[in-house]
Amino acid sequence: MKTRILKVDEKEPQAERIEAAAKIIKDGGLVAFPTETVYGLGGNALDPEASRRIYAAKGRPSDNPLIAHIADFAQLGPLVAEIPEAAQILMKAYWPGPMTLIFQKSSLVPKSTTGGLATVAVRMPSHPVARALIRAAGVPIAAPSANLSGRPSPTRAAHVLEDMDGRIDMILDGGEVGIGLESTIIDVTGPEPALLRPGYISEDMIRALFAGLTVDAASLGPMSPDAHPKAPGMKYRHYAPKAQLTIVRGEMGAVQEKICSLAERGLKDGKKVGLICTQESRPVYEARLSGAGDGLDLVIVGSRSDAASIAHNLYDVLRSFDTAGVDEIYSESFEGGQLGGAIMNRLKKAAGYHILDV
Ligand code: TXA
Ligand code: MG
Repeated sequence: MKTRILKVDEKEPQAERIEAAAKIIKDGGLVAFPTETVYGLGGNALDPEASRRIYAAKGRPSDNPLIAHIADFAQLGPLVAEIPEAAQILMKAYWPGPMTLIFQKSSLVPKSTTGGLATVAVRMPSHPVARALIRAAGVPIAAPSANLSGRPSPTRAAHVLEDMDGRIDMILDGGEVGIGLESTIIDVTGPEPALLRPGYISEDMIRALFAGLTVDAASLGPMSPDAHPKAPGMKYRHYAPKAQLTIVRGEMGAVQEKICSLAERGLKDGKKVGLICTQESRPVYEARLSGAGDGLDLVIVGSRSDAASIAHNLYDVLRSFDTAGVDEIYSESFEGGQLGGAIMNRLKKAAGYHILDV
């Protein structure tokens, strides 16, 4: 299959380009498209054959359910058995936007889309390209992140092409996405909302609406092999760069000291060492490691004064280490603030929970 790449204006997508992409979806094909979180790999959510194609293109286990993307509130009703009070409050606060809600599904939604579950995940994205595509297709669009299973989610069309060239019909290239981390997932089927995956909409923001919010253990730490997380996707090893990533956590001076000594050891052994640093800390590593060998790949993920920049660049940085072929990676830790929970959730998974406290 030849994958066609079509550039679209990210703010005012050209109608004829959106139509071309929508036709593919209507005909049962697959189109990757930008959302405000990450690129999605879209197919008709009501067509079991399309979801089978999505699983095949991603190399994803078919028990890992897909998110149905809608453009209007009117599209929600037919997909779900009921709309609980908590969902109405959350939708009013954060839709369209980077939030996915889990509902009891209606009989309209095929089990192949929901990985066999009786529930369905629904999100109304705010990205103009995503919204235009869903509207033009006239059906809800099932879309997991448009990466091969086990790779970081794509935040640029070039990332999608890296993973999906020859596997899907089209990539709508709407430039870099804004947020860079996947949506917050909240289950509203129980007596209290449950946070299944942290995102741009933080735990604190949801707790401000629901003091009784529960947090699924799978979003917090490593899973035991026999555990059953509520979001099946959380049990798979995710977002993993090829090299072992180690997070160093603690007071900043001590963290930098530890990272420098680990990097020095690696470089001395002839290894290629990747370091994830910030604009603020870069001079420290440069000064200390300049004479330590030429295998150093020092990458700035963003600025401590702008956590959004760290979220935005994180997956691109992880992918760049795969391309550079580094042997080991060390990263500072980015806790705190609205985005700290989401950033650390992804970084820890990428590290396989390999964390050094100093
Ligand atoms: O930001 C996002 O959410 C992106 C963009 C494209 O919208 N999509 C995304 O999809 O991240 P994906 O498939 O990579 O992650 C969806 C997660 C998985 O962990 C899956 O297990 C969970 O949502 N999920 C989907 N349906 C579910 C359901 N019915 N119950 C519980 N978890 C569900
Ligand atoms: Mg994903």
